[in-house]
Amino acid sequence: MAALPTPAAPPYRPRWWHDAVIYTVWVRSFADGNGDGIGDLLGLLSRLDALAWLGVDTLWLTPIHPSPNADFGYDVTDYCAIHPDFGTLADFDALVAELHRRGMRLVLDLVINHSSCDHPWFRAAERGKASYRAWYYWRDAPNDWEAIFGGSAWSWSETAQQYYLHLFLPQQPDLNWENPDVRAALAEVARFWLDRGVDGFRFDALTVLKKAPGLPSVAPTRREALRMATPEAEAPADTAVPPDTAVPPSPNSPLLPQPAWSHFLAQPGLEALFADFVRRAGLTRDHLTLGEANGLPVERAAPWIAEPDGLLSLLLHFELWHIDRPTAQGGATLDTVAFSESCVRWWQTARALGTRPALYLENHDLPRVVSRWADDRDPDATRRAAKAFAAAQLLQPAVPILYQGQELGLPNARLTHWAQIHDRAAEPTIAALRAKGETDSTILAALSRTGRDAVRTPYPWDATQPFGGFSAAPPWTPLPPEHLPLAWQQQYEDPHSTLHWYRHLIHRRRQRNQGVTP
Ligand code: GLC
Ligand code: CA
Repeated sequence: MAALPTPAAPPYRPRWWHDAVIYTVWVRSFADGNGDGIGDLLGLLSRLDALAWLGVDTLWLTPIHPSPNADFGYDVTDYCAIHPDFGTLADFDALVAELHRRGMRLVLDLVINHSSCDHPWFRAAERGKASYRAWYYWRDAPNDWEAIFGGSAWSWSETAQQYYLHLFLPQQPDLNWENPDVRAALAEVARFWLDRGVDGFRFDALTVLKKAPGLPSVAPTRREALRMATPEAEAPADTAVPPDTAVPPSPNSPLLPQPAWSHFLAQPGLEALFADFVRRAGLTRDHLTLGEANGLPVERAAPWIAEPDGLLSLLLHFELWHIDRPTAQGGATLDTVAFSESCVRWWQTARALGTRPALYLENHDLPRVVSRWADDRDPDATRRAAKAFAAAQLLQPAVPILYQGQELGLPNARLTHWAQIHDRAAEPTIAALRAKGETDSTILAALSRTGRDAVRTPYPWDATQPFGGFSAAPPWTPLPPEHLPLAWQQQYEDPHSTLHWYRHLIHRRRQRNQGVTP
């Protein structure tokens, strides 16, 4: 029998982060160090031993910069400072030093697509200051793009007497990445933190940095827009206009917002824009850089992750966001074939490019995996599912990214009153459910299943302590009582717990990986 051809050796280069186990910290809800009910850097510092014991070696902190918190830190007012809720630059330096002393690393979340509307850059641009005007997108008449968080992607600025573009909340105006000054300023931010010792970044909303040239509307005419908004029905006669009439611009009659992903997601030319930033920031492949990559298909992975000169270390692709299969009971379950196919596809692609893919099942935007794909009403079933998902993730040849509380097998928090709802991105969902006449309890149940507030509650450290050991004071948002039986300390004392199972898998993985190519 003829010998099988030997596959060409991939251009593999070992990188420290190939063997990393990354852990995401949503700082506000991780650990409170100064007793004001808000998680902070000193609290995190005090829990590094617990994280080192678990075996995770790289922390990704969600944004820690000053922010009015319209989107909990994803609306930054000063990129080179620490939010007072979280501590000081001195606390930050102590955190970096303590992590490095333990052989651990730190990755910061850089929100590069937009600033806060309270950032001095935006305020200057709004006032018409020439040097800042072109840092954002301004129009006398908006196009018809719908924001990712719902509603029009344009808001009116009284100061500027113009509309500005925001793909997320109105408080998050999009920076104009076509402007080299913007790229230079953000690169300077990256260098500031690299000089302070961070090991890399997670780039927020990476795939929407580039917009379709000229920001064209999706629907060319008002008639077309109405047809797209109400596909079942013809546009009502009294609103009908000649088909070639552009949608009339008016601050008082906003356009019907259209889903416009095709005009801002993963646009051609995105790579070139980002490459310019990478060069200016002096990022290399020895930094760990994660790119939030909504809409980026595996076929386009090469320029991003290929050795030797890919733009990033890891792509946080969104394929697993869309593989739920409806169940007969009205819930959802994991499409196991789609899951395996996606993992294999990304692994094979990454391997051929001389690197490894990333794999995450949870983050601060997604439901808890046991609530999403298992039955979280029964504690035994939840624990079994948590352990199965741990194995499914940690036994893959991919760099795993865990989200705080995943190692406890936490289910989504049960949100039972409005004081637990903070996320403004949920407002369109709430309004839509109200418009359908749903009751408060039904709306809260829906938010418990899919809302981001359900995965951002305080971390349960010890069920025997006040406030679950998270803080000495009432936490900024309640710690769900149903999480207390799953608290860290109680799982630490139980060798059969989910927490121990995560630790076991992480340590086995590390032994196995030593010196092994992807
Ligand atoms: C990313 C973040 C999310 C944030 C959004 C806008 O998707 O993960 O939390 O709301 O970007 O910055
Ligand atoms: Ca605090």
